[in-house]
Amino acid sequence: MSFSERVLSIEESGIRAIFNLVVRSKDIINLSIGEPDLDTPSYIKDAAKEALDQGFTHYAPTKGYPDLLEAIAQKLKKDNGVDIDPEHEVMVTVGGTQAIFLALTALLREGEEVIIPSPAFVQYFAATKLAGGVPIEVRLNEDYTINPDSIRRAITKRSKLVILNSPSNPTGAVSGREKIEEAVSVAVEHGLMVISDEVYEKFIYEGQHFSPASIPEFKKHVLTVNSLSKAYAMTGWRIGYVAAPPEVIEQMAKVQMYSSACIPSFIQKAAVKALQLKESFFEDVLREYKRRRDSLCSILSESPHLAFSKPSGAFYLFPRIRGINIPSKDLVMQMIKEIGVAVVPGSAFGRLGEGCIRISYANSIDKVEEGARRIVDFLEAASKRSVG
Ligand SMILES: Cc1ncc(COP(=O)(O)O)c(C=O)c1O
Repeated sequence: MSFSERVLSIEESGIRAIFNLVVRSKDIINLSIGEPDLDTPSYIKDAAKEALDQGFTHYAPTKGYPDLLEAIAQKLKKDNGVDIDPEHEVMVTVGGTQAIFLALTALLREGEEVIIPSPAFVQYFAATKLAGGVPIEVRLNEDYTINPDSIRRAITKRSKLVILNSPSNPTGAVSGREKIEEAVSVAVEHGLMVISDEVYEKFIYEGQHFSPASIPEFKKHVLTVNSLSKAYAMTGWRIGYVAAPPEVIEQMAKVQMYSSACIPSFIQKAAVKALQLKESFFEDVLREYKRRRDSLCSILSESPHLAFSKPSGAFYLFPRIRGINIPSKDLVMQMIKEIGVAVVPGSAFGRLGEGCIRISYANSIDKVEEGARRIVDFLEAASKRSVG
C-alpha cells in the first residue's frame, strides 16, 4: 500500500515511544511525563458536569462560544497585555497542539521554511513537515535562551515563520523580554510571521513571562498560542486557543471546520470557569513545582556526568551527559531496564538535542528524589562501562 509522502516523512514522537513503553509498568519511576501530576481542580470538573446537564452536548461554533472567546480576550489583556477583538482575532483549538497545526497548515506554502530554535517541542518539526514546510533547526544560547543572531543567520528567501517557546519544553529556559523582543524584531524586519508558544507561561520560578503580541507593532506578525492543559492540569480535556490577526484566524477556522468541526461544547463551558480561577491557585502549584525542581537539581548536581544550570520555568531539566558516549536513545533504554527510571532522550527534541536527556519533575517529590538518586548511580556505573 502506498501512503502520503508527508506522513511517511515523520516518525512517531520520541516522547510517545517512551510513554507507550512504560505506561503499563507500575514499578517504573516515570520522569518522562510532560503533564502536571495534579488533578484538574474540582471547581472546573463541576462546571463541565453542570454544562452537560444543561444540554451543552451539541456542535459548537467553529471558532468557539462567544463567552469563552470573550473570557480569553480578557485573560490576554489582564495577564499578557495583549489586546484582541474576541470576534475576529481568537479561536479555540484542541489544545496548543492543534493551534500550532492549524497555524502551520494555514500559513505554509510547499517548501517554505520554519525556523525553530532547538532543542524544541517535538511537534514543531512534524507539524511543519505535515503542512508541506521545511523545519530549520537553529541553535539556542548555551543557557538555552533564544539566540536572535542564530535566527537572523538562518533566514533565506524561503523563510516564512519562526516558532518561539518560552518557558521552553524541553529545556525549562525562560528567554526574557529582551531576547524575545529582539528575535521578533528580526522576524518582522524580514517579513516573517512568529508563533509564540506560551503554554508554560504560568510555570516561571525566576523572571517574568513576556508575550510579544503585547507590542502593538508586533501584533500583526504574531500568533499567540496558549492552552489550558498545563496551567489548569487539564491535559486530557484537550482545549487551547490561539490569538492572531483576523485574516490568519479566518484561514485557520476553515481548516478547523474540515478537520474537527469544533471543540466539545461542555468543555468550552468548563474552560470559561477555569479562566476565572484566582492567581493564588497558581501560587500554590508553583511553590510545589519549585520545591521539586530545587530538590532534583540539588541531587543531580552531585553527578560529574551531568552538565546543567537550574532552569527558571516549565517542569523540565535538560542536562547534557558528560563522559558517556552512547546515543541518548540507547542510554534511556538502559536506564529504564536497569534502574526503572524513564526519561526522554534529547534526540527526540531535534538534532541539536542529542547528547542530553529530558527529566520531568511533574511527579511527586518522593519519586523525583528517588529517580534522581538512581540516575546519579546509573551514570556513574555507565561511565565506567563506557570507558572499560
Ligand atoms: C511547548 C509545548 N507547546 C504545546 C504543547 C501542546 O500542549 P496541549 O496540546 O496539551 O495544549 C506542549 C505539550 O506538551 C508543549 O510542551
